[in-house]
Amino acid sequence: MKTARLRIARGIGDEPLRYDEFAVPFEDGATVLDALIWIRTHRDPSLAIRYSCINANVCKECTIAVDGSVVYACTTRLSADRVMLLDPLPGKPRLRDLVSETRPPRERLEQRLSGHRPV
Ligand code: FES
Repeated sequence: MKTARLRIARGIGDEPLRYDEFAVPFEDGATVLDALIWIRTHRDPSLAIRYSCINANVCKECTIAVDGSVVYACTTRLSADRVMLLDPLPGKPRLRDLVSETRPPRERLEQRLSGHRPV
């Protein structure tokens, strides 16, 4: 069993970013999404992440930045060689932790006009 070290951006909306670091046990082939799900299950259920298809690379919901590059968390392999830096998508409004606002602006406007607030 190897250990990955993930430094994960935390915070809600526009509040200043902070980073929490987690050590995650893994076996070869495990992905960043596997580690995030492990963290939510075993360390911090408040960590906000988004995913749907798990590893079919279909939904694109798990897109985040790892070490500054935009990737799919469900297909990015864990590494034991270094601390991996995880951030929400650059250039998108942050909702919470690793979850960014990805809906088109028009869709957001229609939601505001209808009085329905996003979660
Ligand atoms: S969870 Fe669907 S593409 Fe990653």
